[in-house]
Amino acid sequence: MEELEILKQELLALSAIDKLWYLSKKYAGRIVFSTSFGWEDQVITDLIFANKMPIKVFTLETGRLFPETYYVWNRTLEVYQQTIHAYYPQADLLQNMVNEKGPNSFYESVENRKECCYLRKIEPLKRALQGNDIWVTGIRADQSPNREYMHDLEYDAGNQLIKFHPIFEWTLDEVKKYIKDNNIVYNTLHDKGFPSIGCAPCTRAVQPGEDFRAGRWWWEDQSKKECGLHNTVEGVMVEGGA
Ligand code: ADX
Ligand code: SF4
Repeated sequence: MEELEILKQELLALSAIDKLWYLSKKYAGRIVFSTSFGWEDQVITDLIFANKMPIKVFTLETGRLFPETYYVWNRTLEVYQQTIHAYYPQADLLQNMVNEKGPNSFYESVENRKECCYLRKIEPLKRALQGNDIWVTGIRADQSPNREYMHDLEYDAGNQLIKFHPIFEWTLDEVKKYIKDNNIVYNTLHDKGFPSIGCAPCTRAVQPGEDFRAGRWWWEDQSKKECGLHNTVEGVMVEGGA
């Protein structure tokens, strides 16, 4: 935790790009960025790839992503000609779950949904983070109530590393402006009422005025809605966290 406090001081007053540069040098070979190809992630991907920063970019390929997401993924490879590492669920575990419960078991109970998120996201995430010190994400402060209590740098006790959210303080308008000004490929679902894009069967559009995350696991009680990727505030597990 002391390391976290030192880093906070070192990064104070730097821009998002300078913070990324600083961390990529200080933690060379031990810093990774996870992308879900949402527009926040596309901004960070551009910062990393356009500047050829030594940060490994990876995605959790759940097998249930939207066709639009695969399109963005492929276009991003074409534009930058750099590697995005895909992490897949373990085939035997997934096969067992689907054989036992069918392909859409997540609609039946919170337990089933969490099991699916564990197999398709959390377990592969652990493998992707293995051996790293810094995990970069596209989280922004105004994306959900819990996220307002977070910081751009935080300790993730579960994964035992430091998480860094380079555009944490950016507004959605700033993200959109960056995308437009830099002509960056983005997921067209964002223009159709999808502020947050996860797996296709578990994400729907939201109505104007609805909460940012209302379209994720919409059939569940609000307090149960997290997939376990991001559920710590300053290293403490929170109920229903992002
Ligand atoms: S989630 O917890 O609900 O699934 P959210 O969609 O808000 O996450 O995305 C927040 C950040 O989590 C993204 O900016 C990205 O860094 C990471 N993330 C989410 N889904 C994935 C994915 N499938 N692959 C890689 N990173 C992901
Ligand atoms: Fe499974 Fe839905 Fe979680 Fe994706 S979001 S891993 S399909 S339960």
